[in-house]
Amino acid sequence: MSRKIKKAIFPIAGLGSRFLPATKVLPKEMLIILDKPILEWAVIEAANSGIEEMIFVTSSKKNSIIEHFDRSIQLESLLKKKRKKEQLRLIQSQNSLGKFTYVLQDEPKGLGHAVWCAKRFIENDENFAVILPDDIILSKKPVIKQLIDISIKTDGGSVLGLEKVPKKEVFKYGVINPHKKINNYYSIKNLIEKPNPSIAPSNLTVVGRYILHSKIFDELEKKKKGYGNEIQLTDSLLTLVKEPGLYGFEFEGDRFDCGSKLGFVEANINFGLADKNIKNKLKEKLRDL
Ligand code: UTP
Repeated sequence: MSRKIKKAIFPIAGLGSRFLPATKVLPKEMLIILDKPILEWAVIEAANSGIEEMIFVTSSKKNSIIEHFDRSIQLESLLKKKRKKEQLRLIQSQNSLGKFTYVLQDEPKGLGHAVWCAKRFIENDENFAVILPDDIILSKKPVIKQLIDISIKTDGGSVLGLEKVPKKEVFKYGVINPHKKINNYYSIKNLIEKPNPSIAPSNLTVVGRYILHSKIFDELEKKKKGYGNEIQLTDSLLTLVKEPGLYGFEFEGDRFDCGSKLGFVEANINFGLADKNIKNKLKEKLRDL
């Protein structure tokens, strides 16, 4: 298994209920961080990691996403006419992000079900990425590329992005039970979705970045319901432990949970501080608070 990882699945069919009323009409993935929708930051991360095909598992209520990534010849020619060169460059840079494929999830039945919806776009014995865009990550090297590099090191293993959290907070996440630490990554023997802190096997939690092997679809196909009566992705990951191997990597980068108000505001401040044009002024403003 040394085929290049070329496809990423973006599950984006959720309700975004924690962000109502903003998300009543506007999809959560289209909320803006600095100057781009949350989803565009995730697509840029994938493209910078060598991913060529972006597969969106979406809902019929989220058409603005299709429009956003579609080429707008009319806007391009208007910007050209008005000599808005920089804006034109920005809009045209979207055209080289990759190939976009859309598939509908009829209703949000869980993350495992959303990934299963993209099954037909993944070949047998193929590794692919899964990116949850509301986990937005500021890092030097794109996080998906960091995971791809671990997958290569483990001869095609599946790799989960991990983050250490205080033990009392593990009930919000999927938690791994590590088998052992090998250099800078872990081999995994078990996982539990949203455990009570008293029974959690570690404080290493799974965040929204995965490299998975197509074998996972055999398990997702069974559509077993788990935590919250939803089809969970975590429950199916175990099937990868034996073959091709399941690993976890504490990636380098700062993650912000844009599905929550606090994470969203933090992300905007940190992306602002990383932008050379507004960094200094923003720092001053923050100091004055
Ligand atoms: P979340 O639970 O964080 O997103 O799912 P949500 O359901 O949209 O938000 P809340 O909890 O109601 O506020 C993580 C990711 O998985 C997608 C979501 O769109 C989000 O990107 N997802 C979740 C699906 O695509 N389908 C599902 O059935 C569930």
